[in-house]
Parts: sequence; C-alpha cells; structure tokens
Amino acid sequence: MVICGGSRTSHDALYLCLAPLRRAVDGSIVLFGPPGAGKGTQAARISLLTGKPQVSTGDMLRAAVAADTELGREAKSYMEAGLLVPDEVIIGLISERLKKPDAESGLLLDGYPRTIVQAESLDKIESVAAVVSIEVPDDAIVRRIVGRRMDPETGQIYHIDFNPPPEEIANRVVQRKDDNEETVRSRLSAYHEQTAPLANWYGERGVLLRIDGNKGIEVVGDSIESALLEMSG
Ligand code: AP5
Repeated sequence: MVICGGSRTSHDALYLCLAPLRRAVDGSIVLFGPPGAGKGTQAARISLLTGKPQVSTGDMLRAAVAADTELGREAKSYMEAGLLVPDEVIIGLISERLKKPDAESGLLLDGYPRTIVQAESLDKIESVAAVVSIEVPDDAIVRRIVGRRMDPETGQIYHIDFNPPPEEIANRVVQRKDDNEETVRSRLSAYHEQTAPLANWYGERGVLLRIDGNKGIEVVGDSIESALLEMSG
C-alpha cells in the first residue's frame, strides 16, 4: 500500500503520489464525525493530500465570538451550551466562503454540514466528492475532548495524554470553553439527534467513506489516505 502523507515518505515520493488525488477529487470533501473524533487533527494532512483548503465552521464561529461581531454574539450562547448554531446562520457563512477564488476546486469542509437542511443547501451550490466519516465511540470522545489543548499561536491541537504539547509551549496551550464534560454530553446528544442521520443521507449518494477513528492518530490518517486514494481510482 502506498502511504503518501505519513512522516515516513520522502518529499519526492510524496508529490508523486499526491498528483492523482489532486487531479481526481473534483468537488469538496466533508470531514464528518462526532465532536472530538479527530476532524481537526486529520485536516492538515488531508488538505496537503488533496490541495483543498480546510474550512472549519467551528473555527470561523470562534473567531466571530472573539471579535464580538453580530454573528459571534448570536452564536456564542449556542456554542457554550453545546447546541448547534441555527441553520440559517451557518448556511450563509459557508455560501459566502464558497464564492472565494480558492474554493474553485472545492474545499475541505471540517464540521459542515451537520444537519440534513445544511446538506440539502450545500447540494444546491457545491458538488461533494467524498464524506470522510471518522467513527469513534462516545466513551472515547469524552476523554479526548476533556484532555484537548490548543496552541493559540499556531492553532495546533494537542492532547494531554495522547499527543502532549512539547515542553517549550506547554505553558501557553489553552482549553476551549466548551471542552468540559457537561458540554460534551450536550454536543454528543446534538450529534446523535441532528448530525448522525447525515451518514445515511450521504451513504445513499455513494460518497461516504467510513473510517475507524478509534485508533492512533497516524493509523487513522493512513486509513483516510488509503480510502481517498482508492476512491479516486
Ligand atoms: P467544532 O469546533 O466543529 O467542534 P466539534 O465538531 O465538536 O469538533 P471538535 O473540534 O470538538 O473535534 P474534532 O473532531 O476536530 O477533534 P480534534 O481533532 O480536535 O464546533 C464547535 C461548535 O460550533 C459546535 O458545538 C456548534 O455549536 C458550532 N458549530 C460548528 N459547526 C456547526 C454547524 N455546521 N452547524 C451548527 N453549529 C455548528 O481532536 C480532539 C482531541 O482528541 C484532541 O485533543 C486530539 O489531540 C485528540 N485526538 C485526535 N485524534 C486522536 C486519536 N486518533 N487518538 C487519540 N487522540 C486523538
């Protein structure tokens, strides 16, 4: 099996095996899964592999909250309660993002769509080439979320046990406000009720790639890469 994006690949070999995917995956790729499944962790590697810019609706909303914009003020209470932001708010945000020049060959959509209404809306304006569904059981999710830390300077995601930050930055990493056990339970409920049904919706359209996300970070990344390469023929 050829693994392109892993650390054990030489620079030349990497670009040789990226070429077919960069040409073949026409349209956007959706990163799908419960909170803490590893969507953000895997996004950089998939973005490199496919050439598609990563767009995280969670990051866009957090930036709006930090900047205290009208959107941020509207989204804040939903996010802190672990609820989904209303469809009409998020649909407008992504529709605008898809108009930018770098979205011409598709985006890597991290955390969008999350409801059938969002998926139907996306379907009208963008072709979805693949939906990478990272599957992780609920009990593993809680541990991942509560132990997550982020470097505010680089945006790099860490975990206190599974992927600890290097010593030199350990004192500057931060914890997201919604990364506590109580909010995680609400986020998981929202996921099971409103988002999980999308897996069948995309399965019926033949674009769903199911990935076992309950493995180490490298192994999950290798599985995603193989599934995308296989899909692209
Ligand atoms: P968002 O920021 O998208 O949060 P989320 O979906 O809950 O996903 P996370 O960012 O929590 O997890 P992830 O899958 O990226 O996991 P990560 O790689 O960090 O959304 C936040 C809020 O915004 C929502 O609750 C909602 O209110 C709103 N929102 C956003 N989009 C919306 C939409 N479309 N519609 C409506 N509302 C929306 O990994 C987690 C941890 O696990 C890390 O510490 C990592 O190091 C570790 N880890 C990762 N992979 C592994 C592994 N394989 N093994 C061990 N540890 C691992």
